[in-house]
Amino acid sequence: MATKNETSQDGGGVATATDTLTVTDNRTGKSYDVEINDGTIRALDLREIKVSDDDFGMMTYDPAFTNTASCRSSITYIDGAAGVLQHRGIPIEQLTEKSTFLEVAFLLIYGELPTQPQLERWTFDITHHTFVHEDIKLHMQGFRYDAHPMGMLLAGVGALSTFYPEAKKIDDPEERYMAAVRLVAKVPTLAAFSYRHNMGLPYVYPDNDLSFSENFLSMLFKKTELKYEPDPRLAKALDVLFILHADHEQNCSTNAVRGVGSSQVDPYSAVAAGIAALYGPLHGGANEAVLRMLRRIETVENVPAFLEGVKNREEKLMGFGHRVYKNYDPRAKIIRKHVDEVLEATEYNPLIEIATELEKRALDDEFFTDRKLYPNVDFFSGLIYEALEIPTEMFTVIFAIPRTAGWVAQWLELIDDPEQKIARPRQVYTGPRDVDYTPIDDRDGPEKITNESVRRPVRKRRGA
Ligand code: CMC
Repeated sequence: MATKNETSQDGGGVATATDTLTVTDNRTGKSYDVEINDGTIRALDLREIKVSDDDFGMMTYDPAFTNTASCRSSITYIDGAAGVLQHRGIPIEQLTEKSTFLEVAFLLIYGELPTQPQLERWTFDITHHTFVHEDIKLHMQGFRYDAHPMGMLLAGVGALSTFYPEAKKIDDPEERYMAAVRLVAKVPTLAAFSYRHNMGLPYVYPDNDLSFSENFLSMLFKKTELKYEPDPRLAKALDVLFILHADHEQNCSTNAVRGVGSSQVDPYSAVAAGIAALYGPLHGGANEAVLRMLRRIETVENVPAFLEGVKNREEKLMGFGHRVYKNYDPRAKIIRKHVDEVLEATEYNPLIEIATELEKRALDDEFFTDRKLYPNVDFFSGLIYEALEIPTEMFTVIFAIPRTAGWVAQWLELIDDPEQKIARPRQVYTGPRDVDYTPIDDRDGPEKITNESVRRPVRKRRGA
C-alpha cells in the first residue's frame, strides 16, 4: 500500500492501477491506495493507516466474520443471492441427480470426479476402514445410557487421534490419505454406535456388501436378521441427504476445523472441533430444533399464532434464514422433492402438514420476505430423518457423517496453503488498564454469598 502523498512526491509508480481502493483518513488528511485482488483488500494493508508513528495502525472489526474472507478455496462455490451451490464447479442439482455420496466425497477431497478405477479403489478403501478398534466400543460403553449422541460422536472422533497417533505427521501424504479414508469411513460407525448405545442395543458391525448409506442404515436398524436389506428408496434419499450436507464452504464448523487445524494438530482433533461447532442449535443442531418446534406447534391451526410469536421475537422460526443464502436454499429445494418419496415409503407424518403451512405462510409474509428469510436445508431434512424413524437427537449426528468429507477436504486445502498461518484474530480491547492490584480485604463486594451473587448477569443476545 502507498499513501497518496508519497505517490505524488516520488513521482508515482506505486499502485496506480485501477485495481486499488483509495482510503482517506480524515484524522490526518492522508490518502492511501490499497490493492484490490479478487474483490478483496488485505486487512493487513490497513495497518499502515496511522495517526502517529507509534500508533498500532488500523484494523478491521468483524465479530462474526460477516464480511471477511479467511482463505482462498477452490472447493465449494455459493452464490447466496442467486441460491447457487457448486462443488468444484459442479452444480449441486447435477450431483444429487447423477452421483453418489462417496463419489462426491472424492470430488471434494481430490478436486475432480473419480475415474472408474479411482472410484473402485476409493470405495474399497472406505469400505475396508469402517471398523473401529474394539477399545472404541468400550469407550462408547462408558457413556450414560441417555448421553446425547453428538457428545458421544465428538468424544469418539477425538479419541480416534489416540488410536492413530501417526496422523500427527500431517506432511506425510500416506498419513493424510489414511486419515481422510479413516475419517470418512469410521464416522458413520461411531454415529451408529452412539444410537445403539442410547437404545440399549448391541452395536452392529459394518457390512462390506452394502453401499455407504445402506451400511449406515444396517448399523442403525439391524436386529436378529442375518442380512439387513434396506428399502432402496430410503437408502437413496439418505445418500442424497449425504450429498447435500457434504460441504458448505466457510461455515461455523468448517471455520472451527480450519482454525484448530491451523495449529497443525492431527486431523481427528481438528474434525472433532468441527463436530463441536456443528452441535450448536444455530448450525447443525437446527434440524433437531425444527422437529421440536413442529411438535410444539402441534396442529396446522396453531401456525398463525406461532408466526405472530416469531414476529414479536418470542420465538425463532427454526429452519429459516441463512447467513449466506438470501434466497431459497438450493439444498432445501432438492430435499423438498425427496420428502414426498420418503413419505410414500414410510408412515404418514402429520408434522409435514405443519411444516408446509409454516413455509407457505412465511413465504407470504413481509416480516420474512423483507429479511430474505427462506427455508434452509434443515427445514425439511428433519422430516426425512423422522420418517426414517431416526430419533431427533441423531439428526445432527447424521449431518456430521457427510460433512466429515467436506471438513477433510478443507483441512487438506488449509495445510497445503502457503498463505495460511496459525489462526489468531485481533481484538478491540475495551477493559480497564494499568489498574493497581487490590488486596483481598480491601475489595468491594457482597458480605454474604448467595446463588444470585455468584451469577454473572446474562446479556441479551442479538435475535435471542
Ligand atoms: N426466525 C425469525 N427471525 C429471524 C430468523 C429466524 N429463523 N433468522 C433471522 N431472523 C431475523 C433476525 O432476528 C434479524 O432481524 P432484525 O434485522 O429485525 O434484527 C434478521 O432476520 C437477520 O438475521 P441475523 O440474525 O442477522 O442473520 P444471521 O446471518 O446472523 O443468522 C442464522 C443466520 C441461520 C443463524 C439465522 O437465520 C437463524 O438463527 N436461523 C434459525 C436457525 C437455523 O435454521 N439454522 C440453520 C442454518 S442452515 C444449516 C447450516 O448451514 O448450518
